[in-house]
Amino acid sequence: MKTLILYQSFTKNTEKVTYSIEDALKNQGVIPEIKKVSKDLNIDLYDYDLVFLGTPVIEFLPCKPVLDFIHSQLMLHRKKGDIIPCSPKLPGKYAVSYVTYSGPHTGIREAIPANKYMEQFFEHLRFSVLGEWYIVGEFHKNEELSTKGTLGNIKGRPNTKDLLEIQYKVRNIVNRIKDKDRDNGHDIEEEFIPGSLRFIMKNQDFLNKFKQVIECQKNTNSLDKTTQELIKIALSASYKCRDCLKYHILEALKNGVTDIEIQDAIFCGAIIGGPPFLSFAFDVLDELRII
Ligand SMILES: Cc1cc2nc3c(=O)[nH]c(=O)nc-3n(C[C@H](O)[C@H](O)[C@H](O)COP(=O)(O)O)c2cc1C
Repeated sequence: MKTLILYQSFTKNTEKVTYSIEDALKNQGVIPEIKKVSKDLNIDLYDYDLVFLGTPVIEFLPCKPVLDFIHSQLMLHRKKGDIIPCSPKLPGKYAVSYVTYSGPHTGIREAIPANKYMEQFFEHLRFSVLGEWYIVGEFHKNEELSTKGTLGNIKGRPNTKDLLEIQYKVRNIVNRIKDKDRDNGHDIEEEFIPGSLRFIMKNQDFLNKFKQVIECQKNTNSLDKTTQELIKIALSASYKCRDCLKYHILEALKNGVTDIEIQDAIFCGAIIGGPPFLSFAFDVLDELRII
């Protein structure tokens, strides 16, 4: 699997994550090329099966060198005729975008536009985006934003735990691509299975049925995506599934749901679930720094 890691980093947070991705890939027998994004980077992304693109979040978006790189790549591939209406996926072309961010003002929500921007870039090139990763990083040389922001004390981040999570995610991505190869072209889903359900992935039969149920649910359209996520938040909390709850909170935030709406969904669930439900749900919200 020909793999490329492209990144930019000013204070080494994104670089730390990049090296962690490299380590994890090597442990999976994949030797990646690593390149720092720069003006004179001359590269053909279609030469690679798997491309990682990482950036610090600067004013909600990828940093300038990454923005410039994306712009020049879009111009190039438009000219070459690679970007076409409806963006049908190219088989065997996968991408992961990752950002490090400090979220001092509004938490993860200030990092979401950056990742979505890069996701759209890859989707226009017709790569399948298998991951969109958010890693908290210390705001170097700024004591206040590193200790008093929405995410609390983020000094030393990304820390060992953050990097371990990255290693797990990389392993997951590589296995999914290998599974797809074994599966002879069966389509890979977006990253949708939370950590505690990962063992399900080992049981192909069960997994296929589970995916069918998810597909059927996705195709229901009388409820908009945000309402669906709010229902899932209330249910995840009442079943006390920590990973499901975290996952659906992040999905809700990505779809524009506000902190207050999430809290209200939890209060709705509490009508049935009572105090144990509230205590569990608010524990998770606290972990995600949403309260
Ligand atoms: C000028 C500047 C603007 C930034 N803007 C944001 C921002 O809008 N949102 C955010 O979450 N973090 C922001 N940050 C914090 C960085 O994204 C964060 O510290 C990142 O991990 C730095 O990565 P690096 O060490 O790889 O350069 C900003 C940092 C700087 C220096």
